[in-house]
Amino acid sequence: MDIRFLGHASFELSDGATSVLIDPFLTGNPKAAVAAAELTPNVILLTHGHGDHYGDTVPIAKRSGATVITIVEIAEELTGEGLENVIGPNLGGSVSFAGGSVKLVPAWHSSMTPKGTVSTPTGLIVQFGGATIYHLGDTCLFGDLELIGRRHAIDVALVPIGGFYTMDREDAVEAVRMVAPRQVIPCHYDTFPPIVSDVSAFKSDVESSTGAEVIVLQPGEAHRL
Ligand code: NI
Ligand code: MN
Repeated sequence: MDIRFLGHASFELSDGATSVLIDPFLTGNPKAAVAAAELTPNVILLTHGHGDHYGDTVPIAKRSGATVITIVEIAEELTGEGLENVIGPNLGGSVSFAGGSVKLVPAWHSSMTPKGTVSTPTGLIVQFGGATIYHLGDTCLFGDLELIGRRHAIDVALVPIGGFYTMDREDAVEAVRMVAPRQVIPCHYDTFPPIVSDVSAFKSDVESSTGAEVIVLQPGEAHRL
């Protein structure tokens, strides 16, 4: 199974049969590794409604017929946009898809779609390709990360480190300690001036104070599990 970083907080998981696209912000993303038109996912997962996550969801889903899974209020908006395969659980809910499943977990942030739908932001626990991937979404540091890490044996955590809109790289070290994943891929940094970060310092801080390995991906690069 490959985890490809598409830039900012967007990732594509693929096992050769199924492609799972997370937070497809490509148009207008200065770090986008691909154009929206190049992707043909089977499943699209959204952590929350902000434009830098919701991104190109509607055109990609319309063209590909992908099933979109996201919290119920955003799911209702997407159905209203004419998407036919939308599933809208709430926090704690799990949804199965071809080859895997996703569970929505809390994230401490805010959320409104570009069209104004307000909803609760989420993190995503994705079971796919024999691995458990945790996309933290946009969040600050909060205590229940430890609970989530106790409940799920996380293989790879996708962790925001840019600060300003989310936890910064120093809080992210503590988040990694609490979630206790095997590996960490940092994201949500260096896309825009307010979220410039020092990813090398994050990597050395995590690897010297937790058991996790940090894998730094440039946009377009993939990590194979
Ligand atoms: Ni956000
Ligand atoms: Mn964001």
